[in-house]
Amino acid sequence: MAKYIIEKSGPLHGEVEISGSKNAVLPIMAAALLAEGECEIMDVPALRDVDVMCKLLESIGSKVEEDYENNTVKIKTERIVEEEAPYELVQRMRASILTMGPLLAKTGHARVALPGGCPIGARPIDLHLKGFQALGAEIERGHGYVEAHAKKLIGAKIYLDFPSVGATENIMMAAGLAEGITIIENAAEEPEIVDLANFMNKMGAKVKGAGTDTIRIEGVPSLHGTKHAVIPDRIETGTFMLAAAITRGNVLIKNVVSDHVKPVIAKLIECGVVIEDTDEGIRVRGDLHPLVAADIKTMPYPGFPTDMQPLFMAFLSTVKGPSVVVETVFENRFMHVGELNRMSADIKIEGRSAVVPGERLLQGAQVICTDLRAGAAMVLAGFMADGTTELSEIYHLDRGYSLFSKKFRSLGANIQRVSE
Ligand code: EPZ
Repeated sequence: MAKYIIEKSGPLHGEVEISGSKNAVLPIMAAALLAEGECEIMDVPALRDVDVMCKLLESIGSKVEEDYENNTVKIKTERIVEEEAPYELVQRMRASILTMGPLLAKTGHARVALPGGCPIGARPIDLHLKGFQALGAEIERGHGYVEAHAKKLIGAKIYLDFPSVGATENIMMAAGLAEGITIIENAAEEPEIVDLANFMNKMGAKVKGAGTDTIRIEGVPSLHGTKHAVIPDRIETGTFMLAAAITRGNVLIKNVVSDHVKPVIAKLIECGVVIEDTDEGIRVRGDLHPLVAADIKTMPYPGFPTDMQPLFMAFLSTVKGPSVVVETVFENRFMHVGELNRMSADIKIEGRSAVVPGERLLQGAQVICTDLRAGAAMVLAGFMADGTTELSEIYHLDRGYSLFSKKFRSLGANIQRVSE
């Protein structure tokens, strides 16, 4: 198992290029199952999760060509031989359940291992299944799997109790080949939903309203192959913005859509960070003013993103004044607090809130990645800690960030990957 050895770093300086979005490319790869013909997806990030999705599509019957040199994946599905997402792949990557909607739409059947819990919460899929049932599917559960059968999918009006990203995506993909009109109300509005809708419409689908809370899909008989470049990763963008802020650095972040990180920009400005939106990208300067605390509360998009909560908490541990962090999206997304407290952050959890005292001189320690974004938070904390930080279980980071330590070293950070 590998680990990161992190020494006090910064202020970070220079420029970094953001890769394609993990949370956009995974549903888009699943949606390629819907096409008669080849889909070519560009700006694909080199991630462990992308590899797992390629393996899953191959096990279903797709021909997959990964060209990491050119960040491109070609997917062609002439025959579906297996309508199943097996446990060993679902367990490694929860987004495997995003093949359920396309399989149901293409073959009338899908069998997917129920995703186990994960460090940040139970993460049920009841809203996905409610959507499939509304479209006419029969749902059966048993032996850790869930199956959906439908002779034909018929468009329906579906209200999501919670604006679930995955449920919105799965239902949108199933409805793409259903008969008639589907309306998804209280839909998720994340940029990744818009990117998926754009991809589907390029395949000949008729999706309107993506990016709002009401999405209208008019089913069509078939979809054809297409080419599509994935949007930049807004969470990787936020990660490097926070790295510049926590180290009081001056970093230009390129290949970004600043609209997608508006809530993070607003919060950093509230803390005294200077953000310049330039033609080349976003310049983040944590070196111009003393940085102060601000409270955060995670919300579905366009609110403050839950995926940035652990990283922002690490940052708040180093600024002047106390702050309160409220996590409203996942019920257990404070696993990083224990690890930050091993570095003397002195954070106290009270239900869904965490009180961050701030102004802490963090101390290097042996810590672990409890999940992908918690791991990123520990890296940022390590850049500010006195002494060495040893971060293990970094396979979580390999799932969601490409060239992670290399990009940080190019900004002057002291981070090395070693085998344990
Ligand atoms: C997506 O997960 C992202 N993953 C997550 O990013 C992100 O944190 C999350 O959206 C919220 O923005 C991908 O896109 C691959 P949800 P998803 O369904 O779709 C509850 C990362 O680090 N819920 O919007 O699983 C659920 O329990 C990952 O990149 C139900 O109750 O998120 C949670 O509390 C982490 N029933 C809330 O909704 C359901 O059927 C949000 O989940 C589905 C979800």
